[in-house]
Amino acid sequence: MSETGKFILGDKTVEMPVKHGSIGPAVADIAKLYSQTGMFTYDPGFTSTASCESKITYIDGDEGILLHRGYPIEQLAENGDFLETCYLLLYGELPTAAQKADFDYRITRHTMIHEQMAKFFSGFRRDAHPMAVMVASVGALSAFYHDSTDISDPQQRVIATMRIIAKMPTMAAMAYKYNVGQPFIYPKNDLDYTSNFLRMCFAVPCEEYKVNPILSRALDRIFILHADHEQNASTSTVRLAGSSGANPFACIAAGIACLWGPAHGGANEAALKMLSEIGSVENIPKYIAKAKDKNDPFRLMGFGHRVYKNYDPRAKIMAKTCHEVLGELGIKDDPLLDVAVELERIALHDEYFVEKKLYPNIDFYSGITLKAMGFPVSMFTVLFALARTVGWIAQWKEMIEDPSQKIGRPRQLYTGAPQRDYVKIGSR
Ligand code: SDX
Repeated sequence: MSETGKFILGDKTVEMPVKHGSIGPAVADIAKLYSQTGMFTYDPGFTSTASCESKITYIDGDEGILLHRGYPIEQLAENGDFLETCYLLLYGELPTAAQKADFDYRITRHTMIHEQMAKFFSGFRRDAHPMAVMVASVGALSAFYHDSTDISDPQQRVIATMRIIAKMPTMAAMAYKYNVGQPFIYPKNDLDYTSNFLRMCFAVPCEEYKVNPILSRALDRIFILHADHEQNASTSTVRLAGSSGANPFACIAAGIACLWGPAHGGANEAALKMLSEIGSVENIPKYIAKAKDKNDPFRLMGFGHRVYKNYDPRAKIMAKTCHEVLGELGIKDDPLLDVAVELERIALHDEYFVEKKLYPNIDFYSGITLKAMGFPVSMFTVLFALARTVGWIAQWKEMIEDPSQKIGRPRQLYTGAPQRDYVKIGSR
């Protein structure tokens, strides 16, 4: 039985179909609103707008629930590895042992990048922000892999998907090595995905690098936490770029550019800088006051979320992983962690944050963890982009394979000058 919603607009009443998903809010299908009423809907920031139908990730912001293809993030982070989550996001089911082994094998054998790409990196200043390097070099992949840019060819889409997931760690490590002035380290096929990445970042040619399995497992879990998150800003960017038929490398580069912003993936870098600026527990009240002051642009970075009005389930796992990593590294009293824990305690009891439902998000504890592992602050969002690449490409794949897919082209509420005639400069 089809369900409709009535829109009463002035003297007009129009009926719009109401669609229900498997779980979560229903939607009013307003595709015909303009043709029937001459009106648009208006929703800057898309606070009440579903941009697409998807089967990949579900978030219940009020309950603090995150599901990937129906599996809770807590269970995926606890039981599987990042490449298993990649397989699940891409294909919709957890892999069998044979499927997982094949997927790992295929990803591993795409981790090298075209040797000319190394020369591409050398065009940057050494102090270029690694995110600037990533936006440029990932976009440049389409100049090196012409045989996987035709999005109408399913085979090319598969190869491009494997390549982008496999090559992000190699390029991220190269961005780091270039920044610190050390030689690039090639991937090794006998290492797992995250161990390979750690070795490419921290090994030097002068001696063998032994991957710490605890740290590798922790970082692999951090990648799982960052893998996908429904229609966030950078994923929406990738979908919109892909809706024009742009090649997948260009679309992922657009996603990286959007993720860089401090309101989004750049918040992990901004949160650590904020904790460093606060410096000590004694300074927290001053910064809480700044965050609450309407006339002060300061915000608590790593706090708040458009969707979560409860604790971000990823932040809980992130906090646990943070303590695990600091413990493994023998870091007993990290002043930044002391500030973070006390800041969280105060904020969660302050009525401003309680009333506005502002909780720590995934970016609050990630910076402390990554810094302890040896990554510079400028690499934090690069790691977020590395992990989110699978979410971006899985959402891109879902969109491209949707037969009803069309180019995204929002409209506007125009408040500029009505039509007027040109005035010659001498008469102005
Ligand atoms: C990510 O979308 C995703 O899923 C993103 C992400 C993913 O995995 O892809 O989860 C990753 O981007 C996490 C968010 C990282 N960003 C930050 O930590 C930056 C700090 N947080 C904020 O800037 C803010 O909370 C946002 C951007 C995350 C969400 O902003 P919204 O949904 O637009 O909410 P808002 O700005 O309208 O804030 C609502 C109110 C406002 O007060 P009023 O105007 O109602 O009086 O809450 C206040 C805000 O001033 N507020 C904060 C605050 N966040 C919101 N006040 C102080 N500190 C904060 N951090």
